[in-house]
Amino acid sequence: MKLVKYLANLGYGSRKQVALMFREGRITDAQGEVLYADDPLDHDDLRVDGEPLDPAPGLLVMLHKPAGYTCSTKDRGRLVYDLLPPRFRLRSPLLSTVGRLDRDTSGLLLLTDDGVLLHRIVSPKSKLSKVYEATLANDLRGDEAEIFASGELMLESEKMPLLPAGLEAIDPRHARLTLHEGRYHQVRRMFAAVGNHVEALHRSRIGGLGLAGLPSGEWWILGDGDRAELFKA
Ligand code: URA
Repeated sequence: MKLVKYLANLGYGSRKQVALMFREGRITDAQGEVLYADDPLDHDDLRVDGEPLDPAPGLLVMLHKPAGYTCSTKDRGRLVYDLLPPRFRLRSPLLSTVGRLDRDTSGLLLLTDDGVLLHRIVSPKSKLSKVYEATLANDLRGDEAEIFASGELMLESEKMPLLPAGLEAIDPRHARLTLHEGRYHQVRRMFAAVGNHVEALHRSRIGGLGLAGLPSGEWWILGDGDRAELFKA
């Protein structure tokens, strides 16, 4: 790929703006040697205003989403993209959220610009479990674990019953739920179906990956080791 297009795709500006950056001598190699738009592409050797480039395409980001942020590029209010460097929102292909968390749900959210990886994570074939910690308005009744594990629970306006899900009661008002699918507002609707109400919801794990102490509102880039963890059963 030509350098101008490559840098524009990483969010450094429109092709016109990036072409101007070349003419201004702002694009160099690691030794400070000015580069030209038709020079060969070497991501690790490129510098913009002396700074190494943002990560190459094929990015997988873990974000500890706080409650109150929406998984969207353009809704009103606070967006998960507001927590990332501004250029990350301008990348092409887009850095998309892997599934969504409701605005009021906190916890582990993945974002990637790699469509194949995204589909692999969300595909039922990968069997990646998702673990949620729910704070409930009412005490657990005691029959929820059996109902959720049955594989027969039908949520309103769904055509298929839910896959069996695991419930662990932490105390009467706190439950840990392990799901193997991701339907719209699934956890909140499951508890509504058993006469309860979710007051707060937090996702703590996807597959073998947890937040590992990542503070709320912060993000980091996942490497090959983390990716392997993610796909561990
Ligand atoms: N289930 C929900 O109800 N909300 C989420 O954000 C995720 C799972």
